Amino acid sequence: MMNIFLIGFMGSGKSTVASYMANNFAMEIVEMDELIASREGMSISNIFETYGETYFRDLESALLKECQCKPNQVISCGGGVVLRDENVRTMKENGRIVLLTATAQTILKRVANDEGRPLLQGKKTIEDIEKLMEVRREKYEAAADIVISTDDKSTLKICEEIRMKMKEIQGE
Ligand code: S3P
Repeated sequence: MMNIFLIGFMGSGKSTVASYMANNFAMEIVEMDELIASREGMSISNIFETYGETYFRDLESALLKECQCKPNQVISCGGGVVLRDENVRTMKENGRIVLLTATAQTILKRVANDEGRPLLQGKKTIEDIEKLMEVRREKYEAAADIVISTDDKSTLKICEEIRMKMKEIQGE
């Protein structure tokens, strides 16, 4: 019944895994970016462009707070959610945090044809992705209760690993 917060770099597989978990484990899905975009009536890129990143980050923090009202949700967070310590505290108080990882090579393959990520506009090279991953690595790792590498794994395998590791830490 616990909430699961999926965190990780853009293209690490959060949305795919969240949707699989919601369908197969009878959990409610919260796709944060999608919800923010639909409430604002514009794409994430347009929100960044029109109002700036801080405005988006404020919406993101507010939505996370909203999620605390309910149990049994799988919450697919935007890749930058860990940038604010306040967000990490909110997640820790309301569920378990699962970090999905992937190499820069895998990430590049997954995001190559997607124009919906403003922070990767004009930065779709292994070097640029590695640089941004490196800046964030410490924050991702410090926030995570569970870390799952997603390279070359099916969604089913990733979800099984999440379940197993969740069981392990529940038993602690
Ligand atoms: C961001 C990741 C995006 C989205 C926004 C900012 C980030 O979400 O929230 O573009 O700072 O890493 P995804 O991780 O779902 O692409």
